[in-house]
Amino acid sequence: MKEKIDKLLNEIAEFRTEKKEELEQYRLKYLSKKGLIPSLFGDFKLVAPDLRKEVGQALNSLKNKAQEKFNDLQSQIEDKATDDQKVGDLTLPVDFEELGSRHPLSIVRNKIIDIFARIGFTVSEGPEIEDDFHNFTALNFPEEHPARDMQDTFFIEKNPDLALRTHTSSVQVRVMENTQPPIRTISPGRVFRNEAISARAHCIFHQVEGLYINKNVSFADLKQTLIYFARELFGEHTKIRLRPSYFPFTEPSAEMDISCNICGGKGCNICKYTGWVEILGCGMVDPNVLENCGIDSKEYTGFAFGMGIERITMLKYQIDDIRLFFENDKRFLKQFKSAL
Ligand code: PHE
Repeated sequence: MKEKIDKLLNEIAEFRTEKKEELEQYRLKYLSKKGLIPSLFGDFKLVAPDLRKEVGQALNSLKNKAQEKFNDLQSQIEDKATDDQKVGDLTLPVDFEELGSRHPLSIVRNKIIDIFARIGFTVSEGPEIEDDFHNFTALNFPEEHPARDMQDTFFIEKNPDLALRTHTSSVQVRVMENTQPPIRTISPGRVFRNEAISARAHCIFHQVEGLYINKNVSFADLKQTLIYFARELFGEHTKIRLRPSYFPFTEPSAEMDISCNICGGKGCNICKYTGWVEILGCGMVDPNVLENCGIDSKEYTGFAFGMGIERITMLKYQIDDIRLFFENDKRFLKQFKSAL
């Protein structure tokens, strides 16, 4: 028995092939039901009891080695076959490069632009590095306003008159300087604030701000425009509510909540069990701002609003951490492939 096992061990160790058919012969000869190794197992009952342990171990090890050899040769042959096919068979389908998809912030920005374009708003853009006049002074920020503080704003060290814009209201100042009413425009873009990064806040984020100036524009126009917007973006059953607020550049000012689109207003952890979530700031443009930009505030009135695209996107797609937008993890981005 021992000699037989050793003989087979040698044969197996020496066996080489690159051919599928020869490997099949090997399997039939050694491993198949009627092969040499199973028949040795059949003879095992003839082994003297005191040798059984030793012979049993040798048999098992022979069987394992034979099977391993078979597995190795089989995968070598298969690998080679696919390699050959890749080079040789031009009719095989190609390996596709994965297609990318739009970033969720771009998807939502485009949806917002579309919604306002349908009611006549154009898109305006402006510089991300702004001077004090366009970011603050023209917008009626008093000299000592906390938003001018280093805590909130990234100033350019060599020229303290320049800063990274803290909102895109600066773009609207530029539009008003260069155009007489009627003005109906939105300004999407990147803004910067000196904030600690957390799940809810980031020092870089995106806004869309809107401005409408004409004769006889009233708060009712603002409200109707915002109801239209909220229903287009979050669905026709969305309700809005306006709460009094303060901004230096609008009077009166308000913050707008929408009925929570997650729980439908019943109360959940997204709306902190209030049924409402805040989505934007708005108000009637302060006459001082119109005058600062060369528009006659006796003839014209207007409204303005501004929202963070990250916040809107988080609410729309139930995303719970703002940092996900900046990490560009493909597992996150892929989920928006069909959201276009
Ligand atoms: N500029 C404000 C902000 O960045 C938003 C806003 C715009 C509020 C227009 C009212 C009117 O927070």
